[in-house]
Amino acid sequence: MTPLAVTIAEVRKTVTDARQTGRHIGCVPTMGALHEGHASLVRRAKSFCDFVVVTIFVNPTQFGPKEDFAKYPRTLEADRELCRLAGADLVFAPSAIEIYPADCLTTVEVAKLGDTLCGPSRPGHFRGVATIVLKLLNIVQPDVAVFGAKDAQQARIIRRMVEDLNVPTVIDVAPTVREADGLALSSRNRYLSPIERALAPQIYRALTALQQRVSAGETDGARLESSLQASLAAIPGARFDYASIVDDATLQPIARLDRPALAAVAVVLGATRLIDNVTLP
Ligand code: PAJ
Repeated sequence: MTPLAVTIAEVRKTVTDARQTGRHIGCVPTMGALHEGHASLVRRAKSFCDFVVVTIFVNPTQFGPKEDFAKYPRTLEADRELCRLAGADLVFAPSAIEIYPADCLTTVEVAKLGDTLCGPSRPGHFRGVATIVLKLLNIVQPDVAVFGAKDAQQARIIRRMVEDLNVPTVIDVAPTVREADGLALSSRNRYLSPIERALAPQIYRALTALQQRVSAGETDGARLESSLQASLAAIPGARFDYASIVDDATLQPIARLDRPALAAVAVVLGATRLIDNVTLP
């Protein structure tokens, strides 16, 4: 199993030692319940860096009062084994008290990028994400940190935060890893009932159908958005929080696809909220 650090002092010491031997440091922040999607980020970090730290912390400040913080899966032993197989050098799994010893009076808010897509239905979520990610980057001080394209809005927010606040870490974004039937891997997929699991691949099918329409020449953002919404509305028992075509850089609605766009959705199947996205060239 990958060695474990639980205090900030331990992780700092191990990373400083590694850096003194000339090694480049990579970091993969996670909330645990690791799957092949996370493993792909670790392998990618390891391809850029010699020493990779995986952080595992179920961050309370990014969960809303009605969200699944208490029941979020915690599988540290299995996670450490996955980290070993993927080539990680250190797992940093701090307690909540180690990270938030007292009320944290400072938070990070990335304006505008946090107001669209998942923003309205998850108030405070991206503030919690930006704040914990900045804390983790300050603790580990990696050369490179790897995030997944599956959480496209999160990745854009983190990129922007690092740029705006001059954080000396390169942010790399890795492609979404999917099941054979197209469903994006997620720690939350385990909550799906067998029927919901069978329906879930329709989300990605709706997104790829959209890519085909764009390849066939459709450039009207509103028409593409309606057709995406119609495909999602046809999934029995599902409802969508949003299904939007947005400018890939600003995450604002896009009328005409004359620049890179993102098709992003949040679909609620039973009690499980799934997000997915594809880029539209
Ligand atoms: P978590 O959901 O555990 O995800 C950790 C990282 O794995 C994120 O960068 C996410 O985008 C990536 N990831 C998840 N599923 C993936 C998939 N199927 N393919 C590729 N990458 C995938 O995202 C978080 O944790 C937290 O918000 C965090 C950034 C750790 C801050 O608490």
